[in-house]
Amino acid sequence: MNVLWVFAHPEPRSLSGALRDDGLCTLRGLGHDVRESDLYAMKWNPVVDAADFGGGDGRLVVGAASARAHARGELSADIVAEQEKLDWADAVVVQFPLWWYGLPAILKGWFDRVFVKGFGYGVRAGDGRTLRYGEGRLEGKRAMVVLAAGAREPAMGPRGVNGSLDEVLFPLQHGTLFYAGMSVLPPVAVYGADRVPDAQFAEAREHLRDRLRTLGTTGPIPFRTQNGGDYDDDLVLRPDRAPGATGLGVHLTRAG
Ligand SMILES: Cc1cc2nc3c(=O)[nH]c(=O)nc-3n(C[C@H](O)[C@H](O)[C@H](O)COP(=O)(O)O)c2cc1C
Repeated sequence: MNVLWVFAHPEPRSLSGALRDDGLCTLRGLGHDVRESDLYAMKWNPVVDAADFGGGDGRLVVGAASARAHARGELSADIVAEQEKLDWADAVVVQFPLWWYGLPAILKGWFDRVFVKGFGYGVRAGDGRTLRYGEGRLEGKRAMVVLAAGAREPAMGPRGVNGSLDEVLFPLQHGTLFYAGMSVLPPVAVYGADRVPDAQFAEAREHLRDRLRTLGTTGPIPFRTQNGGDYDDDLVLRPDRAPGATGLGVHLTRAG
Protein backbone atom coordinates (compact mmCIF):
# COMPACT_ATOMS: atom_id res chain seq x y z
CA MET A 1 0.00 0.00 0.00
CA ASN A 2 0.94 3.63 -0.34
CA VAL A 3 0.85 5.21 3.11
CA LEU A 4 1.01 8.92 3.92
CA TRP A 5 2.03 9.72 7.52
CA VAL A 6 1.01 13.18 8.64
CA PHE A 7 2.93 14.16 11.78
CA ALA A 8 2.27 17.24 13.91
CA HIS A 9 4.73 17.52 16.78
CA PRO A 10 7.45 20.15 17.16
CA GLU A 11 9.90 17.86 18.94
CA PRO A 12 11.24 14.76 17.15
CA ARG A 13 12.63 13.44 20.46
CA SER A 14 9.17 13.35 22.06
CA LEU A 15 7.16 10.24 22.74
CA SER A 16 5.17 11.04 19.63
CA GLY A 17 8.39 11.38 17.63
CA ALA A 18 9.68 8.03 18.86
CA LEU A 19 6.42 6.32 17.90
CA ARG A 20 6.49 8.01 14.50
CA ASP A 21 10.04 6.78 13.83
CA ASP A 22 9.12 3.24 14.82
CA GLY A 23 5.87 3.38 12.84
CA LEU A 24 7.59 4.49 9.63
CA CYS A 25 10.20 1.78 10.08
CA THR A 26 7.48 -0.83 10.64
CA LEU A 27 5.58 0.20 7.52
CA ARG A 28 8.72 0.08 5.38
CA GLY A 29 9.59 -3.31 6.86
CA LEU A 30 6.15 -4.53 5.79
CA GLY A 31 6.94 -3.47 2.22
CA HIS A 32 4.67 -0.44 2.05
CA ASP A 33 5.63 2.72 0.18
CA VAL A 34 5.66 5.53 2.70
CA ARG A 35 5.64 9.31 2.39
CA GLU A 36 5.58 11.76 5.24
CA SER A 37 4.22 15.21 5.91
CA ASP A 38 6.16 16.29 9.01
CA LEU A 39 4.37 19.59 9.42
CA TYR A 40 6.76 21.37 11.81
CA ALA A 41 9.81 20.18 9.87
CA MET A 42 8.18 21.42 6.66
CA LYS A 43 7.35 24.73 8.36
CA TRP A 44 3.81 24.20 7.14
CA ASN A 45 1.81 27.43 6.98
CA PRO A 46 -1.50 26.66 8.72
CA VAL A 47 -3.19 29.99 8.00
CA VAL A 48 -5.73 30.22 5.22
CA ASP A 49 -5.10 33.21 2.99
CA ALA A 50 -6.96 34.49 -0.05
CA ALA A 51 -3.72 34.16 -2.02
CA ASP A 52 -3.95 30.37 -1.53
CA PHE A 53 -6.80 30.38 -3.97
CA GLY A 54 -5.39 32.48 -6.75
CA GLY A 55 -7.11 35.50 -5.21
CA GLY A 56 -5.29 38.08 -3.16
CA ASP A 57 -7.85 40.80 -3.72
CA GLY A 58 -8.69 40.89 -0.03
CA ARG A 59 -12.02 39.09 -0.27
CA LEU A 60 -11.98 36.01 1.89
CA VAL A 61 -14.59 33.96 0.06
CA VAL A 62 -12.72 30.76 0.66
CA GLY A 63 -15.41 28.23 -0.22
CA ALA A 64 -16.30 29.47 -3.67
CA ALA A 65 -12.82 30.80 -4.38
CA SER A 66 -11.19 27.53 -3.45
CA ALA A 67 -13.53 25.55 -5.70
CA ARG A 68 -12.77 27.85 -8.64
CA ALA A 69 -9.06 27.78 -7.92
CA HIS A 70 -9.16 24.01 -7.59
CA ALA A 71 -10.92 23.71 -10.94
CA ARG A 72 -8.48 26.12 -12.61
CA GLY A 73 -5.37 24.64 -11.04
CA GLU A 74 -4.56 27.88 -9.19
CA LEU A 75 -4.05 26.61 -5.67
CA SER A 76 -0.82 27.40 -3.83
CA ALA A 77 2.00 24.97 -4.57
CA ASP A 78 2.20 23.73 -0.97
CA ILE A 79 -1.51 22.83 -0.98
CA VAL A 80 -1.21 21.08 -4.34
CA ALA A 81 1.76 19.04 -3.08
CA GLU A 82 -0.26 17.79 -0.10
CA GLN A 83 -3.27 17.00 -2.27
CA GLU A 84 -1.02 14.99 -4.59
CA LYS A 85 0.25 12.98 -1.62
CA LEU A 86 -3.35 12.28 -0.58
CA ASP A 87 -4.29 11.25 -4.12
CA TRP A 88 -1.30 8.89 -4.10
CA ALA A 89 -2.09 7.35 -0.69
CA ASP A 90 -4.19 4.27 -0.03
CA ALA A 91 -3.99 4.95 3.71
CA VAL A 92 -3.27 8.04 5.78
CA VAL A 93 -1.95 8.02 9.36
CA VAL A 94 -2.65 11.27 11.22
CA GLN A 95 -0.47 11.57 14.33
CA PHE A 96 -0.50 14.32 16.96
CA PRO A 97 -0.47 15.04 20.69
CA LEU A 98 -3.89 16.02 22.01
CA TRP A 99 -3.80 19.75 22.72
CA TRP A 100 -6.81 21.45 24.27
CA TYR A 101 -9.14 18.65 23.28
CA GLY A 102 -8.07 18.79 19.69
CA LEU A 103 -5.42 19.05 17.03
CA PRO A 104 -2.32 21.22 17.31
CA ALA A 105 -3.08 24.36 15.27
CA ILE A 106 -0.55 23.44 12.59
CA LEU A 107 -2.50 20.25 11.86
CA LYS A 108 -5.88 21.95 12.00
CA GLY A 109 -4.47 24.39 9.46
CA TRP A 110 -3.30 21.51 7.26
CA PHE A 111 -6.89 20.35 6.99
CA ASP A 112 -8.18 23.92 6.56
CA ARG A 113 -5.87 24.58 3.63
CA VAL A 114 -5.63 21.15 1.98
CA PHE A 115 -9.23 19.90 2.26
CA VAL A 116 -10.58 22.74 0.15
CA LYS A 117 -13.87 22.87 -1.71
CA GLY A 118 -13.80 20.43 -4.58
CA PHE A 119 -11.28 18.25 -2.75
CA GLY A 120 -12.33 17.69 0.88
CA TYR A 121 -15.86 18.99 0.59
CA GLY A 122 -18.33 20.36 -1.94
CA VAL A 123 -17.77 17.36 -4.21
CA ARG A 124 -20.82 16.53 -6.31
CA ALA A 125 -21.99 13.37 -8.03
CA GLY A 126 -23.16 13.46 -11.65
CA ASP A 127 -26.78 13.71 -10.45
CA GLY A 128 -26.00 16.82 -8.37
CA ARG A 129 -25.97 15.12 -4.97
CA THR A 130 -23.29 16.39 -2.61
CA LEU A 131 -20.94 13.60 -1.70
CA ARG A 132 -19.98 13.61 1.96
CA TYR A 133 -20.01 11.38 5.04
CA GLY A 134 -18.66 8.20 3.49
CA GLU A 135 -18.53 9.42 -0.10
CA GLY A 136 -16.36 11.99 -1.80
CA ARG A 137 -13.04 12.56 -3.44
CA LEU A 138 -11.14 10.56 -0.80
CA GLU A 139 -13.51 7.58 -0.78
CA GLY A 140 -11.76 4.22 -0.72
CA LYS A 141 -8.81 5.51 1.30
CA ARG A 142 -8.22 4.44 4.88
CA ALA A 143 -7.37 6.82 7.69
CA MET A 144 -6.08 6.12 11.18
CA VAL A 145 -5.45 8.55 14.02
CA VAL A 146 -2.47 7.99 16.32
CA LEU A 147 -2.51 10.26 19.33
CA ALA A 148 -0.85 10.86 22.66
CA ALA A 149 -2.94 12.32 25.47
CA GLY A 150 -1.91 13.52 28.89
CA ALA A 151 -5.14 12.18 30.40
CA ARG A 152 -5.19 8.70 31.85
CA GLU A 153 -7.38 6.12 30.09
CA PRO A 154 -10.29 6.05 32.59
CA ALA A 155 -10.58 9.82 32.38
CA MET A 156 -11.18 9.45 28.62
CA GLY A 157 -13.71 6.65 29.06
CA PRO A 158 -17.50 6.86 28.83
CA ARG A 159 -17.87 8.77 32.14
CA GLY A 160 -14.44 10.32 32.26
CA VAL A 161 -14.12 14.06 32.86
CA ASN A 162 -12.52 14.61 29.45
CA GLY A 163 -15.38 13.06 27.54
CA SER A 164 -14.71 9.76 25.81
CA LEU A 165 -11.99 9.48 23.21
CA ASP A 166 -14.63 8.82 20.52
CA GLU A 167 -16.36 12.07 21.41
CA VAL A 168 -13.16 14.09 21.53
CA LEU A 169 -12.13 12.73 18.13
CA PHE A 170 -15.58 13.08 16.54
CA PRO A 171 -14.80 16.39 14.77
CA LEU A 172 -11.71 14.87 13.15
CA GLN A 173 -12.78 11.28 12.59
CA HIS A 174 -16.40 11.90 11.60
CA GLY A 175 -16.53 15.58 10.70
CA THR A 176 -13.37 15.65 8.61
CA LEU A 177 -11.94 12.27 7.56
CA PHE A 178 -15.25 10.42 7.13
CA TYR A 179 -16.89 13.59 5.79
CA ALA A 180 -14.32 13.65 3.00
CA GLY A 181 -15.14 10.03 2.18
CA MET A 182 -12.42 8.11 3.99
CA SER A 183 -12.88 4.85 5.92
CA VAL A 184 -11.72 5.68 9.44
CA LEU A 185 -10.12 2.93 11.48
CA PRO A 186 -10.33 2.88 15.28
CA PRO A 187 -7.62 5.19 16.69
CA VAL A 188 -4.41 4.23 18.42
CA ALA A 189 -4.09 6.16 21.69
CA VAL A 190 -1.32 6.45 24.26
CA TYR A 191 -2.83 7.74 27.50
CA GLY A 192 -1.00 9.29 30.44
CA ALA A 193 1.56 10.32 27.85
CA ASP A 194 3.38 12.85 30.03
CA ARG A 195 4.79 10.11 32.24
CA VAL A 196 5.39 6.91 30.32
CA PRO A 197 7.63 4.29 31.92
CA ASP A 198 9.77 2.20 29.56
CA ALA A 199 7.49 -0.82 29.86
CA GLN A 200 4.43 1.24 28.88
CA PHE A 201 6.28 2.75 25.95
CA ALA A 202 7.27 -0.72 24.74
CA GLU A 203 3.64 -1.79 25.02
CA ALA A 204 2.45 1.27 23.06
CA ARG A 205 5.07 0.65 20.38
CA GLU A 206 3.97 -3.01 20.04
CA HIS A 207 0.33 -1.99 19.85
CA LEU A 208 1.09 0.52 17.10
CA ARG A 209 3.12 -2.09 15.21
CA ASP A 210 0.17 -4.50 15.40
CA ARG A 211 -2.22 -1.87 14.12
CA LEU A 212 0.12 -1.01 11.25
CA ARG A 213 0.35 -4.69 10.30
CA THR A 214 -3.43 -4.71 9.90
CA LEU A 215 -3.75 -1.26 8.36
CA GLY A 216 -5.23 -2.73 5.19
CA THR A 217 -7.66 -5.12 6.89
CA THR A 218 -8.94 -3.62 10.16
CA GLY A 219 -12.65 -2.86 9.95
CA PRO A 220 -13.53 0.85 9.98
CA ILE A 221 -15.58 2.67 12.60
CA PRO A 222 -19.18 1.97 11.47
CA PHE A 223 -20.27 5.56 10.86
CA ARG A 224 -23.58 5.86 9.03
CA THR A 225 -23.22 7.12 5.47
CA GLN A 226 -25.15 10.24 4.52
CA ASN A 227 -26.76 8.69 1.48
CA GLY A 228 -27.35 5.17 2.85
CA GLY A 229 -30.97 5.85 3.84
CA ASP A 230 -30.46 6.52 7.57
CA TYR A 231 -31.00 10.30 7.34
CA ASP A 232 -33.93 12.38 6.13
CA ASP A 233 -33.68 15.34 3.74
CA ASP A 234 -32.59 17.62 6.62
CA LEU A 235 -29.80 15.14 7.44
CA VAL A 236 -31.52 14.16 10.69
CA LEU A 237 -31.40 10.52 11.71
CA ARG A 238 -34.71 8.83 10.95
CA PRO A 239 -36.78 8.08 14.07
CA ASP A 240 -36.62 4.32 13.58
CA ARG A 241 -32.80 4.34 13.68
CA ALA A 242 -31.47 4.25 17.28
CA PRO A 243 -35.01 5.17 18.46
CA GLY A 244 -35.09 7.70 21.27
CA ALA A 245 -31.31 8.01 21.45
CA THR A 246 -29.40 11.26 20.98
CA GLY A 247 -25.74 12.24 21.09
CA LEU A 248 -22.81 11.47 18.86
CA GLY A 249 -23.10 7.70 19.23
CA VAL A 250 -26.30 7.62 17.15
CA HIS A 251 -24.19 8.17 14.04
CA LEU A 252 -22.79 4.67 14.33
CA THR A 253 -24.69 1.77 12.78
CA ARG A 254 -24.04 -0.13 16.00
CA ALA A 255 -23.04 1.06 19.45
CA GLY A 256 -19.34 1.94 19.42
C1 LIG B 1 -0.92 23.08 24.82
C2 LIG B 1 -1.21 21.73 25.42
C3 LIG B 1 -2.54 21.33 25.55
C4 LIG B 1 -2.83 20.06 26.05
N1 LIG B 1 -4.15 19.67 26.13
C5 LIG B 1 -4.45 18.40 26.51
C6 LIG B 1 -5.81 17.95 26.51
O1 LIG B 1 -6.75 18.66 26.17
N2 LIG B 1 -6.06 16.68 26.91
C7 LIG B 1 -5.05 15.84 27.30
O2 LIG B 1 -5.32 14.68 27.65
N3 LIG B 1 -3.74 16.24 27.29
C8 LIG B 1 -3.43 17.49 26.91
N4 LIG B 1 -2.11 17.91 26.87
C9 LIG B 1 -1.04 16.94 27.20
C10 LIG B 1 -0.44 16.36 25.94
O3 LIG B 1 -1.40 15.60 25.22
C11 LIG B 1 0.78 15.53 26.28
O4 LIG B 1 1.73 16.41 26.83
C12 LIG B 1 1.39 14.83 25.10
O5 LIG B 1 0.48 13.93 24.53
C13 LIG B 1 2.64 14.06 25.51
O6 LIG B 1 3.21 13.44 24.37
P1 LIG B 1 4.52 14.03 23.68
O7 LIG B 1 5.64 13.82 24.66
O8 LIG B 1 4.70 13.26 22.44
O9 LIG B 1 4.26 15.49 23.45
C14 LIG B 1 -1.78 19.18 26.42
C15 LIG B 1 -0.45 19.61 26.30
C16 LIG B 1 -0.16 20.86 25.81
C17 LIG B 1 1.28 21.30 25.67
